[in-house]
Amino acid sequence: MTKKFASSLLVVALAGLAGCSSIQRDPPIQMLDDMKHQPKFKAQASIDGIFADGRSNRLAPEDTVARAGYREETPMNTGLSSGMYIGQNPVPVTMALLKQGQTKFNIYCAPCHDQTGMGHGVVPTRVPSWQPSNLTEDRVVQFADGDIFSVISNGRRTMPAYQYQVAIADRWAIVAYVRVLQRAAHGMPYDVPAGTTIAAVR
Ligand code: HEC
Repeated sequence: MTKKFASSLLVVALAGLAGCSSIQRDPPIQMLDDMKHQPKFKAQASIDGIFADGRSNRLAPEDTVARAGYREETPMNTGLSSGMYIGQNPVPVTMALLKQGQTKFNIYCAPCHDQTGMGHGVVPTRVPSWQPSNLTEDRVVQFADGDIFSVISNGRRTMPAYQYQVAIADRWAIVAYVRVLQRAAHGMPYDVPAGTTIAAVR
């Protein structure tokens, strides 16, 4: 490598570094557009001179319904009938439904309400100012099934909505399982069949 070549390399390198430190205020020179500029109207933007009402496009015809994600307002989908919470779970309660409810409750509800529903989950131990309701207390035992479904779907006061995480069928399974937890919390000695031993229960 000649001396001259080496020093010209140094000059180029220094010029490069100088480029890094200087603040460029002009927009970069664009050799090829690369689709960076895409003239268009945004949906429902107000643009003069296209349509008489000043919109950039037309509104959907009246009474149009969504083809995806549309849910009819049935008791199954809303927990309501004529504006009132339905009293009873519309899904027949079977052992399989309760097992499904247990699985989903332990995933979606137990972090706050704990696996017994009493409200001592891991979240309130970390955030003591955010206390979940005790789902086994009389006030909640008195809730209609549709009311519990509605709390899961829409949230209530400081409880967030779970309709986006928990499918409708799973919500009804959880409602059925909340009833199991309530029944268990209010169990009486006479609920246990005579002759049952601890070993048998375990
Ligand atoms: C992120 C924590 C959190 C999760 C998860 C959660 N809850 Fe709650 N829940 C709360 C809090 C907090 C309250 C009390 C709301 C209040 O009174 O401000 C509550 C209240 C309730 C109530 C009673 C409402 C009332 O009037 O007292 C029900 C029923 C309930 N939750 C059911 C559920 C079910 C079922 C799930 C699972 C799908 C669930 N929650 C998941 C935090 C949670």
